[in-house]
Amino acid sequence: MNSTNKVAWFVFGFLAIGVGLYPLIYIFSADHVGIQLSKSAALLANVAWNLGFYGHILFGGLALMVGWVQFSKRFREANFKRHRTIGGIYVAAAVVSGGCGLGIALFATGGIVAQLGFLTLAVVWLYFTLNAFWAIKKRDLDMHRVYMIYSYAACFGAVTLRIWLPLLTLAFGAFLPAYRVVAWLAWVPNIIFAYIWVRRKGLNIG
Ligand code: HEM
Repeated sequence: MNSTNKVAWFVFGFLAIGVGLYPLIYIFSADHVGIQLSKSAALLANVAWNLGFYGHILFGGLALMVGWVQFSKRFREANFKRHRTIGGIYVAAAVVSGGCGLGIALFATGGIVAQLGFLTLAVVWLYFTLNAFWAIKKRDLDMHRVYMIYSYAACFGAVTLRIWLPLLTLAFGAFLPAYRVVAWLAWVPNIIFAYIWVRRKGLNIG
């Protein structure tokens, strides 16, 4: 591996683990923090929303933290059983987090534009993840690789959101318009990037 690749891997892993651990802020804070500060008292007291919220952020963090290593050929080939175990954890975590994400998207801050952005992302993440899982059950390796690239590109939206959001908030001079835009900008370019990546690798699922 050349030094540019090493740096890219380090940045990729560092961001995935860093943002993956970020939900712990919600667990260890004595008071409400982050997005909770924009919620009504009624929503914050709602048991179903809380289950959805914590289910989403904790399992989302887990999926993000375990998913990135799966793309290392060396790591995969060193121990295939480990690849399967981590893959199972990723799929289960993505299904729980994505399922919860579907529910809490309906209550997202920023109104219909933000709600639709997160809702679409949740559908897309579940769709790619489940297809990747079914593909490998059918031993279709190319299909599995393609759908996992798309699935993790969607998951990585959690990272890109946290890069875009401060920049957009600065550009708009306010949080809410930035949040509406980021509900889409966090993931649509990632999917386009995944599309280009898949084509460059010469993978095809046709
Ligand atoms: C890829 C599919 C994802 C979807 C559809 C999604 C959707 C959402 C939605 C709807 C909210 C609530 C926003 C609001 O109420 O205004 C939210 C918040 C949050 N999500 Fe996700 N999310 C995804 C991935 C992830 C991942 C992988 C993580 C892992 C770290 C994550 C961590 C969080 C956190 C920590 C919050 C609380 C808001 C904040 O502090 O920024 N999400 N997400």
